[in-house]
Amino acid sequence: MIPDKAPREDVFHGSEELKRDAHVSSFERYKELYQSSIQRPDEFWGDIAKEFFWKTTHSGPFLEYNFDVTKGEVFVKCMGGATTNISYNLLDRNVHERKLGERVAFYWEGNEPGDELTVTYRQLLQSVCRFANVLKAQGVKKGDRVSIYMPMVVELVVAMLACARIGAVHSIVFAGFSAESLCERIMDSQCSLLITADGFYRGDKLINLKLLADEALQKCRDKGFPLDKCIVLRHLSKETEDTSQSPPAKRACPDLQVPWNPEVDLCWLSLTRAASDECEPEWVESEDPLFILYTSGSTGKPKGVLHTVAGYMLYTATTFKLVFDHQPDDVYWCTADIGWITGHSYITYGPLANGATSVLFEGLPTYPDVSRMWEIVDKYHVSKFYTAPTAIRLLMKYGSEPVKKFKRDSLKILGTVGEPINPEAWHWYYNVVGEKRCPIVDTFWQTETGGHVLTPLPAATPMKPGSATFPFFGVVPAILNESGEELEGPSEGYLVFKQPWPGVMRTVFGNHQRFETIYFKKFPGYYVTGDGCRRDKDGYYWITGRIDDMLNVSGHLLSTAEVESALVEHEAVAEAAVVGRPHPVKGESLYCFVTLNDGLTFSRTLEAELKQQVREKIGAIATPDFIQNAPGLPKTRSGKIMRRVLRKIACDERDLGDISTLADSSVVEQLFQNRCGAGV
Ligand code: WTA
Repeated sequence: MIPDKAPREDVFHGSEELKRDAHVSSFERYKELYQSSIQRPDEFWGDIAKEFFWKTTHSGPFLEYNFDVTKGEVFVKCMGGATTNISYNLLDRNVHERKLGERVAFYWEGNEPGDELTVTYRQLLQSVCRFANVLKAQGVKKGDRVSIYMPMVVELVVAMLACARIGAVHSIVFAGFSAESLCERIMDSQCSLLITADGFYRGDKLINLKLLADEALQKCRDKGFPLDKCIVLRHLSKETEDTSQSPPAKRACPDLQVPWNPEVDLCWLSLTRAASDECEPEWVESEDPLFILYTSGSTGKPKGVLHTVAGYMLYTATTFKLVFDHQPDDVYWCTADIGWITGHSYITYGPLANGATSVLFEGLPTYPDVSRMWEIVDKYHVSKFYTAPTAIRLLMKYGSEPVKKFKRDSLKILGTVGEPINPEAWHWYYNVVGEKRCPIVDTFWQTETGGHVLTPLPAATPMKPGSATFPFFGVVPAILNESGEELEGPSEGYLVFKQPWPGVMRTVFGNHQRFETIYFKKFPGYYVTGDGCRRDKDGYYWITGRIDDMLNVSGHLLSTAEVESALVEHEAVAEAAVVGRPHPVKGESLYCFVTLNDGLTFSRTLEAELKQQVREKIGAIATPDFIQNAPGLPKTRSGKIMRRVLRKIACDERDLGDISTLADSSVVEQLFQNRCGAGV
């Protein structure tokens, strides 16, 4: 036990003004609601469900489940028997029932300042209906999978909601992923159609996305999976000679050459021009799949996390409303990319379910300069702002001047997601960006959880910098020790959840057994997050980081195995081991040890080739920061690589603990001597 006399950490409170109109205005109210969400879930969620449209209502308990693998198959079922459509609830319900047709759904802000577009709920509904009709005309049916590989444009939201409207399952692949990664995801999800764009700018760098998409489709063909339909949005490229195939683009970009294969490629604009803007939604079952989103798996093979319609809708809508304390005059901005779960839940589904107005930003925080974020906040009078600790740390390096160049008096609530936020970054965000006025919601969650699971509520929860504080409604966390015993009071161990909430994932696409093995085998009866966690004397939860073989680079999870297998594919490499090394901006950076095949020597050229290889196999986010030649790796007698020792070597920490199980301890000294970036 930590004694009562222990010094209290800084505790911050939301302002009285914020509490006045807040949905949850005090900590007592949070506790009351939390108890009712656990004790009477049917009533708690039933009241929320009443605000949504159901073609037919459900019967029986709100949630049915089994979390215990020893008692049979793991399953979660929410609102069994109900039918609905999520695009209807996000669009038609807001336009027709709530009369919000003229409300702005998105202020789209392009990469280039001045490039902008405003889309109302009515316009979004029309575009979604048109594109839903296009998909139907291409033969896409309920349950079919559609891959989407697009930049941050309004059409990306249109594509995902059009899939949802006809009951198709979208699988969005982040546009920063490589052709190889896209191919792997297309094949795993057995998609029948790909939607992509010609290209886009990231800062001043032109990305020819269509080339990457073509390369991915070729790889699919080579592997025996011919996907012969690709809808291409012309976002950048200029008119070509054959205007029937590819009409003029919105923004001319003379540098972009778009290869066009008339047997496969279909032009977004020509197709939608000809389509009707009315489309009756497909009424789907509450547990029908909504989307698949791939996330890194510790075996190296990404897993297709599957979410279903009703539970995900209610959960993202409710977390958005309460965690950002959504009010009708808000302008909300989440800087994530829709290619990640944060964009799915908190750019598309949660905000639109609430009829919110959001900024959708295509560009980078540092382009054309490091004031860009604050310029946008000022331009649109953003009141709720959600970003990642890595972005905060990046901007913090430039000091407060670029922030102060723009007034941010519209801001009311700030949020973070993706990794633990270090107190220094928290204080800078709070003091400089929010001018000590805005609570920070540090939201802990995962692709798998669908929405926030540990989070403060801005007007109710006293904040401690660096803690994700307490569980959201319906969520029951526990901390387990290695033997699976629940720890009480202040403690540290494995973070698990004891029961499902509506937004939890339902399976790994095509591999239910893998789902059970990854999340439920280690501690039967619990969902295992893979994160370590500490609970302090006041009951606050502090995430301590991953405890599996995953790395968190700039808020993105990567598996060490995935990077290792990309390295080993190079003909010079016999063996590779990858560990994380703390990085001041990215959180963690990739430090790779490679053992070369006999007779080969390590060189700068090889190092560059290996970095390039990982970029090509996975994507730029996985580019190694360090590659060290390792003539031998520290292994146990049974041949298991001791990553713990490699992590120490990467950080130049000599205190190695017990290394008596090492088969050959002389390799360790050799590795210390050959460290990369000595003194870094
Ligand atoms: C980490 C992102 C500490 C954690 C939504 C988790 C966090 C993984 C936080 C999921 C936070 C996310 N504090 N750690 N507020 N938010 N994480 O699937 O390790 O991309 O397991 O989902 O990010 O990453 P994913």
